[in-house]
Amino acid sequence: MEATSETRAEATHSIAPVAIRAENLTKEFKLAHHAYASLKGLLLSFLPKRVEHLVALRQVSFTIRQGETVGVIGQNGSGKSTLLGIIARVYRPTSGVIEINGRVAPLLELGAGFHPDLTGLENIYFNGVILGLTRKQVAERIDAIVQFAELENYIDAPIRTYSSGMLMRLGFAIAVHVDADILLVDEVLAVGDARFQQKCYDKIQQFQREGRTILFVSHDMKAIQHVAQRVLWLDKGVLRADGDARTVVQQYLESVQATL
Ligand SMILES: Nc1ncnc2c1ncn2[C@@H]1O[C@H](COP(=O)(O)OP(=O)(O)O)[C@@H](O)[C@H]1O
Ligand SMILES: [Mg+2]
Repeated sequence: MEATSETRAEATHSIAPVAIRAENLTKEFKLAHHAYASLKGLLLSFLPKRVEHLVALRQVSFTIRQGETVGVIGQNGSGKSTLLGIIARVYRPTSGVIEINGRVAPLLELGAGFHPDLTGLENIYFNGVILGLTRKQVAERIDAIVQFAELENYIDAPIRTYSSGMLMRLGFAIAVHVDADILLVDEVLAVGDARFQQKCYDKIQQFQREGRTILFVSHDMKAIQHVAQRVLWLDKGVLRADGDARTVVQQYLESVQATL
């Protein structure tokens, strides 16, 4: 469904339509263990392989409505990136249902979706088209994207020469210029300097005013509470809490304290 900015803004008042709905979402990764490093390993490789099943998400259910900004917190390995990956359609769930209404702009790991040997400019075209724009639409937005990313002097250099900060700036600039209904931000903002981070938060606020939906993963609890009204807490793949940002962050911090 393509929501216009007017319908998106109206939607936040009464009961807004569903943007993302997960029902008993489970994601299992299968890790096959190969041990060819030795002769013994080679011989063992003829035996049935030991396959480890790693459950990254276990029966996760929630509903996010259009216009909501939802923080996602949890320790490393708790399934946050897997959840965003499923919403970005990078992964398919093993079982359960995921419903997504609207166009998604994912900002996942640093440099994800970038081709290292292409220039910044070529990567903007490449990603813009993948994210649903026509070449003409990308051309119309090029200046805004390059300017937002502050990469005017580097835009013809291959991406592999970029620093992590430059990659983040370009990734964020593209994600916020493709007219998506749903923005996914996975940690990346942490690599930016304070001034650019502020610019990103201002942009996120603008998206909130426009009634877009945002999922925001961060280890920065201040940033989470600043940006999100609601927080999902993932703990070893299980949804431990889903509620008011302040309350859930408090519960999470208490649990971290208790395990120390
Ligand atoms: N592509 C993958 N293949 C195998 N295991 C994965 C893959 N992605 C994530 N995992 C595993 O799934 C679990 C959840 O990871 P992840 O979603 O990245 O957690 P988080 O983002 O909260 O740190 C971890 O145990 C991780 O090792
Ligand atoms: Mg992660």
